[in-house]
Amino acid sequence: MTIDALSLYYPWIKALHLISVIAWMAGMFYLPRLYVYHTPSPVGSERSEMLKVMERRLLRAIINPAMIATWFFGICLVLTPGVIDWSNGWWHTKLLAVLLMSGFHGHLSAARKSFDRDERKRSERYWRIANEVPTVLMIIIVIMVIVRPF
Ligand code: HEM
Repeated sequence: MTIDALSLYYPWIKALHLISVIAWMAGMFYLPRLYVYHTPSPVGSERSEMLKVMERRLLRAIINPAMIATWFFGICLVLTPGVIDWSNGWWHTKLLAVLLMSGFHGHLSAARKSFDRDERKRSERYWRIANEVPTVLMIIIVIMVIVRPF
């Protein structure tokens, strides 16, 4: 299914898609880094309380709206005639990577709530490694959409 009228706005939709992607990625790179600092900070300390505020604002003001906008404009692009050929492997790989990115977003969101309850469910090392997940997925996505290797 495609919507003909979307072709008129194709460059604008793509620009808005990329603007949203940049905002989403900026937040996704930064939030696990805040968790790296939050994990060892003592419960009730000034630093822990400050990190709670930073994490909540980052998710609510940037990461969540940016993810919604990325999906919205991405779906508009999918619905634009001639943009997606469903037989292409690169598109399925991008879609899988984007779904994993959204799942990781959900994981970060759940972790924020447990940090807010002063729980430390995972180690500092875990968050250091998790910090690389959005980077790896972003590299895969960009190679898929630009190089289209298969
Ligand atoms: C959230 C769901 C997403 C959907 C449904 C989606 C869908 C699409 C579609 C259909 C296109 C148009 C391709 C074309 O014009 O030929 C596109 C372009 C693009 N997307 Fe996404 N996308 C999503 C998320 C992302 C993410 C997370 C990234 C980067 C981390 C990303 C990076 C790009 C880039 C760089 C382009 C431009 C490619 C070009 O110049 O043709 N997208 N996206």
